[in-house]
Amino acid sequence: MAAPTRISSVFRPNLFKGKVAIVTGGGTGIGKAITQELLYLGCQVMIASRKMDRLSASAKVMETEISNPYAKLEHMQCNIRQEDAVKNLVSTTIKKFGKLDFLVNNGGGQFPSPASDIRLKGWNAVIETNLTGTFLCCKEAYNQWMSENGGIIVNIVADMWRGFPGMSHTGAARAAVDNLTKSLAIEWADHGVRINSVAPGSSIYSETAAMNYGSPDIFNGNIPYVPAKRLGNVEEISSVVCFLLNPSASFISGETVKVDAGGSLYNGAWEIQDHNKIPAYSWKTDQPDNDDDNDGQSGTK
Ligand code: ADE
Repeated sequence: MAAPTRISSVFRPNLFKGKVAIVTGGGTGIGKAITQELLYLGCQVMIASRKMDRLSASAKVMETEISNPYAKLEHMQCNIRQEDAVKNLVSTTIKKFGKLDFLVNNGGGQFPSPASDIRLKGWNAVIETNLTGTFLCCKEAYNQWMSENGGIIVNIVADMWRGFPGMSHTGAARAAVDNLTKSLAIEWADHGVRINSVAPGSSIYSETAAMNYGSPDIFNGNIPYVPAKRLGNVEEISSVVCFLLNPSASFISGETVKVDAGGSLYNGAWEIQDHNKIPAYSWKTDQPDNDDDNDGQSGTK
């Protein structure tokens, strides 16, 4: 068996001790990275996905990586397109852990296709997963727990800022989630709910996405259009999600944070030389976790 991933974080190790989170799509890609960092920080996490086999296998591995004694990981099957399944996900989480502090709506999916070839069934499936699924999870988290107790929600959207040619269905759904985020931030503010979104650039490399699209090389074509002249990684998304969930983000709500190194601003007219002056951050580390001074930096300095 492969050695467990060594996980660190810029955040202090017990930042989320006593907190409970649901992460949809938490077994793979960006969702898995979010789950791993939350666990490192002492959170109790319920991950959910439609595909139970993949989810169980991933949960088993992540359990071996847990280093924080307060962290707990549970998993359950949930099709976020189905209202009853979402109700069950939220009620089971509250039953198991006694509360619900955080909801991370990461579960989603799409397929590449020119708009003119998308059949109604495929269009509806993508809208139902990415928009309706997110709405249902927010609504149930609010109605079952957060309306009385407050809470923090983070929605993962996409790089749809200049349209999304070749994926118009998901572009439309994710732009709608950006707008939903704003509506809910206002409607639920006086119940103590903050809600924000994170928009990963198309230049974020994840093994899961590379496998879904059939080739790891598909990402490399993005590099010339990224001002950092490199791909991003999933840890660069999870750290932003953890920031939005932490108490020092207490005055941020209704916002969508683009994590794309400025790619959505860049049209190529200004020449950017190849460089490596914006190095990648990762909490994956070779260092043992001896964070004696509790500064989030593990290893000897
Ligand atoms: N990930 C992709 N599609 C999903 C769905 N329908 N439910 C939960 N997770 C998903």
